[in-house]
Amino acid sequence: MEQHENWTQPEPLWRENASLPSYEALKEDTATEVAVVGGGITGITTAYLLAKAGKKVTLLEADELLNGTTGHTSAKVTAQHGLIYHELMNHFGEEEASLYYQAQTDALETMQEWVEKYDISCEWVKEDAYLFATTKQGAHKLEKEFEAYQALGIPGQLSEALPFQMDATKTLCMNNQARFHPIKYLAALLSEFIKLGGEIFEHTKATDVKEGDRMEIQTGEGYTVACEKVISCSHFPFYDGKGFYFSRMYAERSYIMAIEPEKEIPDGMYLSIDEPKRSIRTAEYEGTPILLIGGESHKTGQGVDTSFHYHALEEFAAETFGVKRKLFQWSAQDLTTLDKVPYIGPITRKNDRIFIATGFHKWGMTSGTLAAKLLCDYITGEESLFHQLFKPTRFKSDPSMKQFISQSFDVATHLVEGKLELVADRPNRLNKGEGKIVQWKGERAGAYRDDKGQLHVLDTTCTHMGCEVEWNSAEHTWDCPCHGSRFSYDGSVVEGPADQPLMKIAIEENSEVPPRIEENEFEEPQDSQ
Ligand code: FES
Repeated sequence: MEQHENWTQPEPLWRENASLPSYEALKEDTATEVAVVGGGITGITTAYLLAKAGKKVTLLEADELLNGTTGHTSAKVTAQHGLIYHELMNHFGEEEASLYYQAQTDALETMQEWVEKYDISCEWVKEDAYLFATTKQGAHKLEKEFEAYQALGIPGQLSEALPFQMDATKTLCMNNQARFHPIKYLAALLSEFIKLGGEIFEHTKATDVKEGDRMEIQTGEGYTVACEKVISCSHFPFYDGKGFYFSRMYAERSYIMAIEPEKEIPDGMYLSIDEPKRSIRTAEYEGTPILLIGGESHKTGQGVDTSFHYHALEEFAAETFGVKRKLFQWSAQDLTTLDKVPYIGPITRKNDRIFIATGFHKWGMTSGTLAAKLLCDYITGEESLFHQLFKPTRFKSDPSMKQFISQSFDVATHLVEGKLELVADRPNRLNKGEGKIVQWKGERAGAYRDDKGQLHVLDTTCTHMGCEVEWNSAEHTWDCPCHGSRFSYDGSVVEGPADQPLMKIAIEENSEVPPRIEENEFEEPQDSQ
């Protein structure tokens, strides 16, 4: 079996085989009409639509465009969001469940329209999407979901066969969905945005908003962007504005690998509904059809050793399709709202100048496009059939309250759990490339030794609300189990809600890497010195 050079790096296929122009960071105060924060599918599509509507738009991205969730997606363009319609009918009612389907389908059709209009070469392929079950209970759930399809007029069929080696108890097809290459597609929208006079700043982190007569976005580098409207399309809203979004969403990580299979590639996109969940779709690499296999979701900061997840996917791929070549592997972080419906609209009930779009529950391609359309309607004063359903200020007592209580309990547990954990490992025992929780002067600390042998030691108290972060060995980040903040091994913020880095701890040691000490030589933890 061959192994691609990027196999061991968390490098998504999309960024490898597409290129994007780069943009300067903001280096002075500026002013605009609408400031859009976040350079993923939602931000770029929103910026494009608003520029097309005649607005002066400035797009700010903290890192590089499309290097966040959009760059790490599996890029299925579908209204089949797992088992959702039966649940939506129960919790929201038939009318709203139907609106959800219409909104997602409308987004899919809009994307297809643009692909045709601008002749975008983005590997856009229309395909049916399938849910499949491998257990009796799963089959029963699919029957219920199919009843919802019938009630809502969603085209689909229930059957029992899968076109690859796996025993399914039931499958549920949703016809005429799509897959594509997200970066190639969005590069075309970006170029349209630029032609319309749009302005882009990369490496410009929006950190706060000052709400006055005119609003001012503050950047991490100390500059300001004065504007009339602010739209937050960053994965986690960069500004909370008393919306308490950290308490109304939870973060999950999931994993994807790209392989060239030995067996024939099936038509269609697949998602299993029984554990362990698996997502399957076709893509292209160097003119060869390949498979993307995804799954292994877990709450951020609460998984087992992250490299285990890639092994589990590899095993599944080998058993089901055979693996001729291992190409890429990467992971993604997704946010889910209390009722699984994204938050799109004004940040709080009374605020008509700051808007957000977040909580896409792993279905960011259609939801991101839909969000862009709704946000554009808000800014241009157009009514939309879908505004009410996605309003961030809604609160359904069921299931929101249940989810809210369980999320709060989870956070409370992690607030104390990590602090009580006893650790024996010492920072100087780490090998190159190794990171873990260690004991330093009687306190819990996080340590990582980089490839050059330099040790990075941090206080593991999350700067958002004080939970203890955990080491993510696949991404070399410190992840917070409470609200999903992530920090690089040097402590800098990778992903919010935290906006401050982890505190560094200065320790002295010889530049030489000391040998690992065997288990029975560990000293017992000591009290603070
Ligand atoms: Fe909230 Fe860490 S993200 S405490």
